Amino acid sequence: MKHIVCVGPGRIGEAVMPWLQEKGYAVTRLSRQDYGDFCDGRFAPEAAVETVTACDAVLFFAGLFELHAEEARMFQANCGAIVQLAEAFHRRFPQAQMITFLDSRIQREVSAQPPAVQAYLKAKQALATWTLDHALMWGRETGMRMNAIAPGPVLPPPNKTHSEKAGDCLTVRPTPADIARAIAFLLETPSITGQILYVAAGQQLL
Ligand SMILES: NC(=O)c1ccc[n+]([C@@H]2O[C@H](COP(=O)([O-])OP(=O)(O)OC[C@H]3O[C@@H](n4cnc5c(N)ncnc54)[C@H](OP(=O)(O)O)[C@@H]3O)[C@@H](O)[C@H]2O)c1
Repeated sequence: MKHIVCVGPGRIGEAVMPWLQEKGYAVTRLSRQDYGDFCDGRFAPEAAVETVTACDAVLFFAGLFELHAEEARMFQANCGAIVQLAEAFHRRFPQAQMITFLDSRIQREVSAQPPAVQAYLKAKQALATWTLDHALMWGRETGMRMNAIAPGPVLPPPNKTHSEKAGDCLTVRPTPADIARAIAFLLETPSITGQILYVAAGQQLL
């Protein structure tokens, strides 16, 4: 049985986890109560990863969407903390494959986007670059695989004060079930690494 660790599952991750279990994966949740808040001194990635006993793949769902957010805080919550957790996983489980979660708007010129979302998008772009760099670096070292999923508007932001217009799509909006199928595809296709898979109803083209 393959062991999947879901980091900061949140709403999409919580919807996807039962689906993965039905597919026969053993699923472990690692969340804020295990590693602490990304943005304060309680954050302890190494200690949290030490508690994990088996891991074939890690899904980094965790992320923070806030409008008009401070850049350093957005960077730490959407990139820095994910990188620290991924490094701790890679030290403990060098072969484990990884999937990071981005955003379908990462290809856009950030300065042309609404100022309210620029800090968030910059952080997701940094995570995209890090994901592809490490697919190459760690893939060469251990043969591990690293990919990313870039969701479009699956769900509105959880905090109503941080809501924004979902934006246009080319087809019906993506669902958590679409994300689950994309995860399974990446997990089960051994030759795929260094890819960003847009599950975005074509929003990345607009
Ligand atoms: N929902 C969408 O339509 C959409 C669109 C584009 C991209 N995405 C990306 O897809 C991923 C999953 O989205 P989602 O909507 O399921 O996310 P979500 O419900 O907002 O969940 C986010 C997760 O991140 C954790 N988190 C946030 N800030 C944290 C902090 N400061 N310290 C520690 N943990 C923190 C949350 O922990 P708590 O549960 O403890 O708060 C939660 O587990 C995210 O990376 C998101 O950016 C989603």
